[in-house]
Amino acid sequence: MPTRMKRAVFIVALILLASCSGQVPETSMDGIYTAQQAQRGAGLFESLCARCHSVQEFSGRSFDAIWAGVPAAALYTRIANTMPLDQPGSLGIPQVLALMAHIFNENGMPASSTPLEGDMDFMMSITLTRPAQ
Ligand code: HEC
Repeated sequence: MPTRMKRAVFIVALILLASCSGQVPETSMDGIYTAQQAQRGAGLFESLCARCHSVQEFSGRSFDAIWAGVPAAALYTRIANTMPLDQPGSLGIPQVLALMAHIFNENGMPASSTPLEGDMDFMMSITLTRPAQ
């Protein structure tokens, strides 16, 4: 390859690299839900979960003990398939996502303008992590 062409290829590669880095979310600290989802989730939590749980059970060190380092898809599946304990499978996808957003918000994970969606491949790629204490 002539030198000029090599240089051009190198520059294109650099531009591609720069445009990719930092854009694909990898953890729950990367802004994977909206404030509206969390707000809706807080209401749902009160009406559907609070008779058995307090949100503290899913926050801070209690959150870490079960969920830190685990893919977001696992939390989704746990809620969608097993909760509420006496009516498993009764929640719609947007409800489960809103409940997750509420839990993320309670843990100080940042919201963004990108809503969490029921995309299992995406949620498998997201590692649950809280802000460093
Ligand atoms: C009738 C009581 C009841 C209701 C209502 C209920 N849960 Fe649970 N939940 C439990 C019990 C008991 C456990 C632990 C036993 C088990 O593993 O099933 C549990 C476990 C969990 C866990 C896994 C343990 C953990 O600490 O992470 C999650 C997450 C969870 N519940 C979320 C929810 C959410 C979200 C709702 C509301 C949609 C909900 N639950 C409603 C009784 C309930």
